[in-house]
Amino acid sequence: MRCVVHASNLERWVNMSILSCNHVTLGYDGKEILTDVDFAVGRDSYLCVIGENGAGKSTLIKGLLGLIKPMKGKFVAGEGFKMNEIGYLPQQTDIQRDFPASVREVVLSGCGNRLGARPFFSSAEKELALEKLNAMGIYNLRKKSYQELSGGQQQRVLLARALCATKSLLLLDEPVTGLDPLATAELYELIAKINAEEKIAVIMVTHDLRAAQKYSNHILHLAHRQLFFGRTQEYVADENGEAVNIIDRYVKNREKGDSDKRKC
Ligand SMILES: Nc1ncnc2c1ncn2[C@@H]1O[C@H](COP(=O)(O)OP(=O)(O)OP(=O)(O)O)[C@@H](O)[C@H]1O
Ligand SMILES: [Mg+2]
Repeated sequence: MRCVVHASNLERWVNMSILSCNHVTLGYDGKEILTDVDFAVGRDSYLCVIGENGAGKSTLIKGLLGLIKPMKGKFVAGEGFKMNEIGYLPQQTDIQRDFPASVREVVLSGCGNRLGARPFFSSAEKELALEKLNAMGIYNLRKKSYQELSGGQQQRVLLARALCATKSLLLLDEPVTGLDPLATAELYELIAKINAEEKIAVIMVTHDLRAAQKYSNHILHLAHRQLFFGRTQEYVADENGEAVNIIDRYVKNREKGDSDKRKC
């Protein structure tokens, strides 16, 4: 039995995808980790990628960033979009938290994909970095050392950095890890605002299912393969179309995925 749910072709067409992932299989050293993933992202998409630890979420992010090549299938950029124009906020590690640079330098480094053969950033790029700092509400921190900031402030800096790299697509890998509830809520609101007002598509890896239900319009549920891709409304609906608790639905999908796997 096939366990992949696709958005309809019509929906894909109407949504004018900026990026599609066509039956992609990814892995390391010839071993498949994530098999046959197939979805598309439109300009208004807010896609949450969910799944357990080790399900292959960050592996998908690496594929999207071109850090690993598909073993099968391909990523296709939509019209007017280039794959190197993705703004990326990485899964945080302690080493990154201690990065020895000023806030301004960290944000400016997001303009790296615009440099080409130039060794230095232009004044327009420096201006852009300050503009993004301002938009994230942290202009006053620009001269501070990145290491000195709180977790919430650091994530805003990294969001400003990612926004320097893109006008179209933000890729966020567990952006609220380690943040307190207030900083978490503020970061979610900021991301939702960027998506709604600047029309920047969002792909966010998250373990926060309630946030996924609240903010996303599409869900991709992974478990080394695709258990679900489609509208969030569809994901959280029961057989009668009534909204159900996303955690119950997540558990059900996972169990169904396990039993389908046993049948295969
Ligand atoms: N560079 C690598 N070489 C070999 N195997 C790897 C590599 N990176 C990840 N893996 C393996 O791929 C699998 C999926 O890892 P991945 O980091 O994509 O999971 P994840 O869904 O992001 O998990 P988490 O929720 O814990 O971040 C894991 O079994 C992991 O050990
Ligand atoms: Mg991960």
